[in-house]
Amino acid sequence: MELRTEEINLWPTRIITVEADQDITKGLAKIIMNKEKEILKGQAIEVAGNSKGITAHWLEYNVLNWDYPECRELRRRVLKGFKEYCKSVGEDYRSPEFRISGISCWANILRNGEGLLIHHHDPAWISAHFQVQCNQNPDKPEGSGETVYYRPGFIDRSHGDRQAGSVSLWDEDWKINKDPKPGRLAFFPSYLRHEVRPYIGEIARISIALDVYVAKQKALINFAAERWWVPDMEELEKA
Ligand SMILES: [Fe+2]
Repeated sequence: MELRTEEINLWPTRIITVEADQDITKGLAKIIMNKEKEILKGQAIEVAGNSKGITAHWLEYNVLNWDYPECRELRRRVLKGFKEYCKSVGEDYRSPEFRISGISCWANILRNGEGLLIHHHDPAWISAHFQVQCNQNPDKPEGSGETVYYRPGFIDRSHGDRQAGSVSLWDEDWKINKDPKPGRLAFFPSYLRHEVRPYIGEIARISIALDVYVAKQKALINFAAERWWVPDMEELEKA
């Protein structure tokens, strides 16, 4: 008898990274630092334990709408990553279901001693981090400013504590620490919990984060607000 197999994605934890030779990090660092004062004038909403920085203003602006060559280049990389992500999970980015309804994109500036508590980006479909600058001194304290990704389900099951339940074969594999690498754009499913460990460094740790919403989610969100960028098909095809 013939055996039939079928491939179905439930909640794949796929990570796709995009990098390029052209360095846009220095330009982006300058742009973000210059915008900081203006952004901080708005109404702060605490995010992942951070209420003082520009992260707390993430609903008020979109880095991808800023009129600079570096921001336009970042748009290209974001769209390239989106297309690759769709391909990697067996989806067609040209299908009506995966039309981008909106991308929200904000910046984070963490200074000495600051971090971001564990959080996720649900209800977006996929999210990404772009590292702009951070302390890269080889003598920096261990773990400083690292992004830690937690295996889906682990936190709900045992809070990271062996004593909370029977020991699982997976317990050595419950989190992955990533040292930030300037210039790398990393996509992940929005449900993936992560945090930024307290950062130690004289220069600020600057990163850009974004959420992508697609049509199949039928999100009840107004994508015309200032926080959104809605790319057109032509720009998507060119990326
Ligand atoms: Fe995040």
